Amino acid sequence: MLQEYRQRREQLMAKIGNGTAIFRSAPTAVMHNDVEYVYRQDSDFFYLTGFNETQAVAVLAPHHAEHRFVLFVQPKDLEKEVWSGYRCGVDAAKAIYGADEAYSIADLEEKLPQYLEKADRIYYHFGRDRSFNDTIIQHYQSLLRTYPKRGTGPVAIEDTGLVMGSMRMVKSQAELELMRKAVEIAVEAHEHAFKITAPGRYEYEIQAEIEHIFRLRGGMGPAYPSIVAAGKNACVLHYIENNCQMQENDLLLIDAGCSYNYYNSDITRTFPVNGKFTPEQKTLYELVLEAQKQAIAQVQPGNNFKDPHDKAVRILTEGLVELGLLKGEIDKLIEEEKYKAFYMHRTSHWLGLDVHDSGIYQLGENPQILQPGQVLTIEPGLYIVPETKPAEDQPEIDPRWLGIGIRIEDDVLVTTDGHEVLTAGVPKEIEKMER
Ligand code: GLY
Ligand code: MN
Ligand code: MN
Repeated sequence: MLQEYRQRREQLMAKIGNGTAIFRSAPTAVMHNDVEYVYRQDSDFFYLTGFNETQAVAVLAPHHAEHRFVLFVQPKDLEKEVWSGYRCGVDAAKAIYGADEAYSIADLEEKLPQYLEKADRIYYHFGRDRSFNDTIIQHYQSLLRTYPKRGTGPVAIEDTGLVMGSMRMVKSQAELELMRKAVEIAVEAHEHAFKITAPGRYEYEIQAEIEHIFRLRGGMGPAYPSIVAAGKNACVLHYIENNCQMQENDLLLIDAGCSYNYYNSDITRTFPVNGKFTPEQKTLYELVLEAQKQAIAQVQPGNNFKDPHDKAVRILTEGLVELGLLKGEIDKLIEEEKYKAFYMHRTSHWLGLDVHDSGIYQLGENPQILQPGQVLTIEPGLYIVPETKPAEDQPEIDPRWLGIGIRIEDDVLVTTDGHEVLTAGVPKEIEKMER
């Protein structure tokens, strides 16, 4: 893996030419009082270094004669380490992480300028650490002031987001291996959840068993707060309370993914709590499944990022008209986004180190073209929100549909000749969802 981090840095350095890129580790976050959340490194920082400590800075200076990769890290300090964990320290930052030079983070102020003086721009993402943002601005202003004396130095700060997004959007074999593992664990958890769901049980019981498997199988935990939503709770897109008792005729929507070595899976399944769909649930489930399958079929190299969404929207809109939930001409309903009353989110996002991964979706007028190695979710749904009021030109909603929420979500890899559904291990065919 160290070799791969090196390759990524080389690739980035080739892209930034005469610039210097600076990456800040993620800050720690307080849970309450003096208790912190489990630390998670910033994804860009991790992607380039594999280094997972806070209070660190990575510098990439392709134009520097000797130090093209420099790490600033917390120095060894046994008294502090005994409380908050072992530190890699300055020496090992070179020996283990392959830095050409490493310093204590305390020396940043003094040592950083030498890596900026010859750069024509600074690549940096203004992030959550406000005081570090100020540090970068101060160095930049100071170098601008002294520019006339050198005739060199940064004259712009460019965000690292675009260049990192273009790299992270296409996954390597090593990354895909980790993603497959994150998927494998989540598949097992979803299969288990399906087996233990029954009327009378609580949503949190299902959540607990899912997350138990995530950790038991060596995952870091949930990739995002797990959604276990019975009945009308499924109409709340980010429902995470998970504290209701499941009733006889409820559907259960489970949107849960696992994080494994920083890489994520993201899966949603919806099924009847008592093992049998009501006719309305079945009708809507079939419609969402058809939209999802046809959207997945659009995942082909050369197609674009919006093709699966457009396909899903068309199928769902046609179905909603057939069922009398929408009325009007299909193209016009789509153009006026009338379907948004029942399908209000997008169909896809990139998936990787971040659940909503870095990478561009749209290039001006043109959606991103799909290419092998990209991983995206396909997650259409329908949500007949109980108190929804139809638009003036739209029909009243027959109460039998109200409170049904369905989403089906798979993680799909773009391959050279089409796609691979990484999460195909969790059943979604209608006859498999009944017991
Ligand atoms: N659970 C987050 C998502 O599906 O995007
Ligand atoms: Mn998703
Ligand atoms: Mn999801």
